[in-house]
Amino acid sequence: MAHEFKQIDPNSTTGAKAMNWLENRFPTAFDAYRVHMSEYYAPKNFNFWYIFGSLALLVLVIQIVTGIFLVMHYKPDAEKAFASVEYIMRDVPWGWLIRYMHSTGASAFFVVVYLHMFRGLLYGSYRKPRELVWIFGCAIFLVLMAEAFMGYLLPWGQMSYWGAQVIVNLFSAIPFVGPDLALLIRGDYVVGDATLNRFFSFHVIAVPLVLLGLVVAHLLALHDVGSNNPDGIEIKGPNAPKDEKGRPLDGVPFHPYYTVHDIFGVTVFLFLFSAVVFFAPEFGGYFLEYNNFIPADPLKTPNHIAPVWYFTPFYSMLRAITGEMMYVLIACVVLGAGYGILKSRLPGFAKGAVAIVALGAIAMMLSIDAKFWGVVVMGGAVIILFALPWLDCSPVKSIRYRPSWHKYVYAVFVVNFVVLAYLGVQPPSPIGEKVSQVGTLFYFGFFLLMPWWSRLGETKPVPERVTFKPH
Ligand code: HEM
Repeated sequence: MAHEFKQIDPNSTTGAKAMNWLENRFPTAFDAYRVHMSEYYAPKNFNFWYIFGSLALLVLVIQIVTGIFLVMHYKPDAEKAFASVEYIMRDVPWGWLIRYMHSTGASAFFVVVYLHMFRGLLYGSYRKPRELVWIFGCAIFLVLMAEAFMGYLLPWGQMSYWGAQVIVNLFSAIPFVGPDLALLIRGDYVVGDATLNRFFSFHVIAVPLVLLGLVVAHLLALHDVGSNNPDGIEIKGPNAPKDEKGRPLDGVPFHPYYTVHDIFGVTVFLFLFSAVVFFAPEFGGYFLEYNNFIPADPLKTPNHIAPVWYFTPFYSMLRAITGEMMYVLIACVVLGAGYGILKSRLPGFAKGAVAIVALGAIAMMLSIDAKFWGVVVMGGAVIILFALPWLDCSPVKSIRYRPSWHKYVYAVFVVNFVVLAYLGVQPPSPIGEKVSQVGTLFYFGFFLLMPWWSRLGETKPVPERVTFKPH
């Protein structure tokens, strides 16, 4: 439908006339600005935790811009890749800065996204009506992991090479299709030039396009339902207080209020980001592993292969699944099925189905190698996040109004995640193995038992209006 031309007072300023000329020729852009910025009402009680969404957007832009400049000098060729990165570092003007911004950006992305996800957990931001916002977020997280994994192969150092070798080989543990799937991913029998070429093409164009599409969907879905806030109160709900024009009294326009708020967050972030880029780009071997300064050598396996820190909690869970641990998992299946059959109020046919599924699962767990189940557990640790909106059954959204002990459960969850991350960078050890097994059980217990524990305890009264002190 054609837009009506907006008339303007002939005595208006040249600027206003130019804007009017533009708006009459591109009204969609002006409508989008109003809907998503100047007339998007966000709750006025946003706190520190609400900065990480904008920071994730900033890091996305940093990665795309620095990535474009890296591609100008990088060579996706097994013979030349390592040397081309050295060339960028030593000979390309400002090449070192571009490369360090990109490598630090990768870690910063995960720091910011982990904090952003944790905010969702704290305030129940994944609950109705924001389930889809969360699902798009989880998809972003998965795609981001794929993007980081493929990017890490490109410098063609020892860790790039052997890390990819280990992870791609995991796919061959899948029964029947595994070996062919691993071959398809590598394009060769071992990680080689073909692998480097396909990872390059996915890393620079295919995956970033998917990521951008998902980020747009994430934000559009959020703006359709409106933002949550630290109190977990719906400011746009049917009973929420509004002015005569229907604008929420507990909301403020995103622009200028939160643009200014976010610029402050961006400034603090850039201080920290620059400190790492200029003074500690390797970050003690956590952001750039020391072994990756040695060119890839398919004939020499490094003593200890560890992924970059952001993958290590999941890597720990993979390593935790040993033959012995399979018996513990079988016991968990027996307990879960036993509860479903004996204690729950399921109808008879559903109890029968539970028994059949459990028996089938146990038969498979006994017959397929533990390595495969390690892969299932590692993948499951990410996939389970998608189900969070339906696992949390607490009557209130925000941690502020949940029983106080819920805070301790969340604290243990965080400590457990950090311990798993730490163990994932360490070489395997008997004690580390046991701790990571307990940690894996806790991680899954936290989510799978949530329908039970999230209902327990006395909730606090949720106020009518958001809590906000002007400052
Ligand atoms: C490239 C990665 C991402 C970008 C650029 C991004 C961007 C944003 C932005 C700008 C917001 C609004 C501001 C804010 O609430 O902080 C937001 C909200 C949200 N994001 Fe993300 N996000 C990303 C990844 C994720 C992931 C991985 C998840 C969860 C798995 C997630 C879950 C959410 C949720 C639940 C909200 C609504 C929060 C609320 O209203 O309380 N996002 N995101």
